[in-house]
Amino acid sequence: MSPRVVADPPEHPVREVAEQERERQCRDGLGEPDGGAEEATQDPDGDETAEHRDDDGDPRGRRTKTFHTVAFAATLKRLRFAGVDGERTPAPAFRLALCRGTALHSVAVAFCGDGDNDRPMTPTLDEIDLETVPLGRTGLRTSELQFGTWRFGRVTEAGNVEIDEARAHELLDAYEAAGGRYIDTADVYGGGDCERWIGDWLAERDRERYTIASKVYWQIRDGDPNSRGTNRKNVRHRVDALLDRLDTDYVDVLYIHRWDDETPARELMKTLNGLVESGKVHYLGASTLRPNAWKVARANEIARSEGWEPFTVLQPRYNLVDREVEGDYLEFARQQDLAVCPWSPLGQGFLTGKYDREEDLPEESKAAESSRFQEAYLTAENFDLHDELDAVADEVDASPAQVALAWLAHREGVTAPIVGARTVEQLEENLAAAAIDLSNEQVDRLTAAKPGPYDGL
Ligand SMILES: NC(=O)c1ccc[n+]([C@@H]2O[C@H](COP(=O)([O-])OP(=O)(O)OC[C@H]3O[C@@H](n4cnc5c(N)ncnc54)[C@H](OP(=O)(O)O)[C@@H]3O)[C@@H](O)[C@H]2O)c1
Repeated sequence: MSPRVVADPPEHPVREVAEQERERQCRDGLGEPDGGAEEATQDPDGDETAEHRDDDGDPRGRRTKTFHTVAFAATLKRLRFAGVDGERTPAPAFRLALCRGTALHSVAVAFCGDGDNDRPMTPTLDEIDLETVPLGRTGLRTSELQFGTWRFGRVTEAGNVEIDEARAHELLDAYEAAGGRYIDTADVYGGGDCERWIGDWLAERDRERYTIASKVYWQIRDGDPNSRGTNRKNVRHRVDALLDRLDTDYVDVLYIHRWDDETPARELMKTLNGLVESGKVHYLGASTLRPNAWKVARANEIARSEGWEPFTVLQPRYNLVDREVEGDYLEFARQQDLAVCPWSPLGQGFLTGKYDREEDLPEESKAAESSRFQEAYLTAENFDLHDELDAVADEVDASPAQVALAWLAHREGVTAPIVGARTVEQLEENLAAAAIDLSNEQVDRLTAAKPGPYDGL
């Protein structure tokens, strides 16, 4: 990826203002646009293999030995999905599942031998074959792992673009090859470049086959307070602009990126309902922090009493170490049958095994660039949890990232985690998590590894 310094596009100077807004929100204890510690990012041009070394220093060795397990797990999952242990037992589905799982395993054996060696092996994206699950009660189905594009066009502290257009398209291709069809973006990602690049990619495809979710909220024009939040003027303008960048007539899900206390819930819901009625937006989502869940509940009450469209999708931060949504937030989602699509499912990379208590920080890592990430994630308590994650990963012959994603997918009320990745290699590893099954005992051990209560953001 070629480093370049990117100035904010004149028509959409969101980045600088969003950074200022994020700082303000952090000072106020409200969190920030894209996660608890994401302000610094690594130089994406580094040695990617360093992230995949196992204990023996064998690059990506863990992935080699885990692919056998992934292949077998895929077989088992497909058998179960076909109804072997449940209600649905159509014989053709059973045979298809067996065939596909067996084929996947044959590929593994062909490339890896019988599992006694650690020869590097890349799972075939075509063989991952993500399934779909209901997106709450929208009637839509979503890929079981959604793809997050926050890093597209994102400028690092060193002034490099973390994921450039070519890499972005490679990642989208990879996700598509694995059967993924749900793309999560936001109008501030990459100062608007992210949506433009997705739009260019979509232009060569049948748009109807993809579910696109975007978000509005963060300030986009310096010195213009009305270009922030969810007031009607801002939301209407922002939605028109994002549709233009995505080169589409509608987004499937429009999130409010954060709750705006300055706009009354009634005005917000009326504005959003108008967008749904106009056909520019199909469903409404709230990417909110736990303390604001009651505001979403109240907004939905207003919407229902007026016959307007309510929020049907929630996007909270949720992963093994960030558990503040457990309890009332997830309970609220369950009660209202709302879809829950967690962001930062890998704790922005902490849960991938790339960090160690004793070792120096990997040069090309968020932690190396961000003291805030270090404070938030590299704690004794989190490393204790990671020890348990490593133990379970060894038991099921998978990587920590795959087990962390599988744990999240097992949590009651979770619809589909939003997987992030900076490289195609990372994405392959993460998407293969869809085939990992954990026992109840393993899920319970991981859940107990970081005992609550958990602070809100
Ligand atoms: N609504 C919101 O406010 C909000 C906030 C944040 C994110 N999101 C959405 O959620 C998506 C996912 O969030 P996230 O990017 O924080 O997810 P994440 O999965 O927790 O972290 C992804 C990062 O972890 C590292 N990583 C991922 N897989 C890896 C692997 N297998 N091995 C080693 N490192 C790996 C990569 O960073 P490095 O290589 O740089 O270490 C990657 O960019 C975003 O793209 C966005 O769509 C929404």
